[in-house]
Amino acid sequence: MKKALIFYLSAVLVVVLLSTCEHKPDIVPALKPIVDTTHPVAICSPDTIYFTNTILPLIVSNCAMTGCHDAITHAEGLNLTSYSQIIKYVSPGNPTGSRLYRNMIGLDDIMPPAGPLSQAQLDAFNKWITQGAKNNTCNDGGGPCDTMNVSFSASLVPVINNYCKGCHNASTSSGSVNLDNYNGVLTVANNGQLIGGITGKLSAMPKYGQPLSSCNISKFRQWIKEGAKNN
Ligand code: HEC
Repeated sequence: MKKALIFYLSAVLVVVLLSTCEHKPDIVPALKPIVDTTHPVAICSPDTIYFTNTILPLIVSNCAMTGCHDAITHAEGLNLTSYSQIIKYVSPGNPTGSRLYRNMIGLDDIMPPAGPLSQAQLDAFNKWITQGAKNNTCNDGGGPCDTMNVSFSASLVPVINNYCKGCHNASTSSGSVNLDNYNGVLTVANNGQLIGGITGKLSAMPKYGQPLSSCNISKFRQWIKEGAKNN
């Protein structure tokens, strides 16, 4: 009887302790957690195209802008802001049998209407579908974040092209922000909207997507700190 009581009390203690130990994870959660983070995260392999790292940001930026296939508008009934929605238009292993890719290369419609993606971006879609169109994510292995050699062209432009440009270019300048060229980026760097946006203090950018990695955010900050040069 006594033993049972001790056992019961220790069980209660463990539960209490566990619940007080519970704390928020150190990693800042996604501003809009639309990505399934329950599957294992692999170290990035150069031979693989990952959904969360490459495909989703490109789709969000190029196809999910306001008025197109975003969660609110979903033109033609398409909402392209999550894997479960996107995979409906993909036939894994078969790029040219996938509505998503067919539109991108102009076999059916031409999407995005503002103009085709770059060849490198199309190749990424082709490869991702060929590799089974998985809901996969990778991380860079937690390697150090190099903010020593930050430049506009090498550090910012690739991130902007992948995550922002589809919604912020000359023809689709969401929020009157055009990030297609240095001057456009400089404007929002100077008025504080750039850091405000990517850190979620204004409307969280990229809209509908995962926030930028803390390493990428550090690079934007460092670039501004060093005078926001056109380098
Ligand atoms: C899916 C479309 C979309 C993507 C992708 C996107 N934006 Fe935006 N952005 C918008 C819209 C729409 C607004 C206008 C405000 C609003 O509606 O939330 C906006 C506004 C902004 C603003 C003005 C300040 C503010 O927050 O309102 C900045 C700066 C900005 N975006 C930067 C970025 C950057 C940098 C990226 C890439 C990391 C990005 N955006 C990605 C759609 C997008």
